[in-house]
Amino acid sequence: MTRIARLAALLAPLGLAACASGPGPKLDCPQVAMLQQADRLVRVAGAADDVAARIVDAWVTGVAGKCAPHGDAGERVVFRIGFAATRGVAARQNRFTLPYFVAITEGDRIIAKQVYPVRFDFRHGATQAVATTKPIRLDFPRAPRSAAQQVLVGFQLTPAERAAARAERAMTIAAPEVMAHHAGADYLDCLRRLHRALAPRRYLEIGVWRGESLALAEAESLAIDPDFQLDRDVLAGKPACHLYSCGSDDFFARHDPLAILGGPVDLAFLDGMHRFEFLLRDFINTSMSATAAA
Ligand SMILES: C[S@@+](CC[C@H](N)C(=O)[O-])C[C@H]1O[C@@H](n2cnc3c(N)ncnc32)[C@H](O)[C@@H]1O
Repeated sequence: MTRIARLAALLAPLGLAACASGPGPKLDCPQVAMLQQADRLVRVAGAADDVAARIVDAWVTGVAGKCAPHGDAGERVVFRIGFAATRGVAARQNRFTLPYFVAITEGDRIIAKQVYPVRFDFRHGATQAVATTKPIRLDFPRAPRSAAQQVLVGFQLTPAERAAARAERAMTIAAPEVMAHHAGADYLDCLRRLHRALAPRRYLEIGVWRGESLALAEAESLAIDPDFQLDRDVLAGKPACHLYSCGSDDFFARHDPLAILGGPVDLAFLDGMHRFEFLLRDFINTSMSATAAA
């Protein structure tokens, strides 16, 4: 299978009809589709899967447009592309210009391709931004034209960004299978029992996400995550809960858990960046502020 043919197998259809109906000549504009491997662009300052190193995360939200007769024997496709982006914790600027492409392909051949900039403006501390392109006009001679012709849009990724996107997609596909074969006790159940058995006075958690594990603690808690997605009450039952929105390395470089909690940690759950070197650093840093029994 050639490269474009392989890419074409992963096209996401978008909201631009290939054919218009109604009075007038029968139209047969090429379909506009998003290339799924290029629907997201993540810029990082470090490891591709480290949320704390994320600069910007942008994705294509959709395409809208129309197809109309153009001149005596032509058709014109006019469409806009919508984008959204979140500003990462490692971002040092508020404005980003990212490249996207529009290509006309026929089977595995790229007939024409143009790269354009899309700008995201994260003003006044905003963490999210949207952008819509100006109308993009493409003119085609009226059929007969190959039915295999289509218009593809997506982000213009570097080879490293493409490789990172491929790796993330592979992990997303593999994860449910790993869970299905995991026959041990549920980790939240274990954690709940540990809280009950040890009744810790001070709890530290790295990696909180929606707050499921943090909600189990009834101790004074210190929780760290560069990208909190809390969807529940994590304060209930706790005398105090200190949330730090940053990566754990950053946290330990700037703060002292002993000073925040007023004493050593009795129980910790290290569930942030799931890579050996990160976890080792989290373990070493946490143990410096923990009781010997922790
Ligand atoms: C598996 S989720 C945590 C789930 C949570 N402990 C639970 O069981 O409900 C991992 C979390 O780690 C966070 N994370 C990723 N890199 C991190 C880092 N360098 N330091 C701290 N947290 C990080 C992510 O933002 C994500 O929310």
